[in-house]
Amino acid sequence: MAIRPFTVTDLASTLALDREAFAEQGYTSIVLRQARDVFDELFRVYEDGDGGIAGYAMGAIATDRATAWILALAVAKKHRGAGIGRALTVDLLSLLRARGVADVLLTVDPANTAAISLYQTTGFTVARTVDDYFGPGERRLVMVHHPEPVPQSGLA
Ligand SMILES: CC(C)(COP(=O)(O)OP(=O)(O)OC[C@H]1O[C@@H](n2cnc3c(N)ncnc32)[C@H](O)[C@@H]1OP(=O)(O)O)[C@@H](O)C(=O)NCCC(=O)NCCS
Repeated sequence: MAIRPFTVTDLASTLALDREAFAEQGYTSIVLRQARDVFDELFRVYEDGDGGIAGYAMGAIATDRATAWILALAVAKKHRGAGIGRALTVDLLSLLRARGVADVLLTVDPANTAAISLYQTTGFTVARTVDDYFGPGERRLVMVHHPEPVPQSGLA
């Protein structure tokens, strides 16, 4: 199994996975298809070894070029708890850092303890809480991952 860029042949399986994870708050096929063209290799899938996908993640670099967002992360229910979510997160962080991005941001439902634990253990911290982020009653935590500090030599 491997992590690789999304291709158009992954559209149906990614849409199904997204629906399973996010129901009516998920993306449409139009958004997923055009995300391939806009985000290119920052749209990642984790192969399930059987021709389908076990998970996906979507990253986007903001127009300031200094910040980026993880716009989506989902793992199919039958594949959860096997390290796939962590692998996709680490992979995306690495790709974004290689592009010179500083802060990497994301939003997460304050009740989503599994995702919050994953993000905290990959280095994210809570930057702020935003009421009504996705509409009335849709509060979200904004989490941020800062770059690793550059070691100082100690020399004057
Ligand atoms: C959140 C999600 C992506 C995690 O994917 P996963 O492949 O199951 O996660 P991993 O197996 O890589 O686990 C990584 C860490 O996540 C946390 N975690 C995962 N499942 C958890 C659970 N059920 N309860 C608490 N923590 C959990 C743990 O910190 C875990 O580390 P550990 O294995 O060392 O304990 C997955 O549950 C999912 O797709 N959920 C629905 C969609 C979603 O909420 N996406 C995030 C939107 S912000």
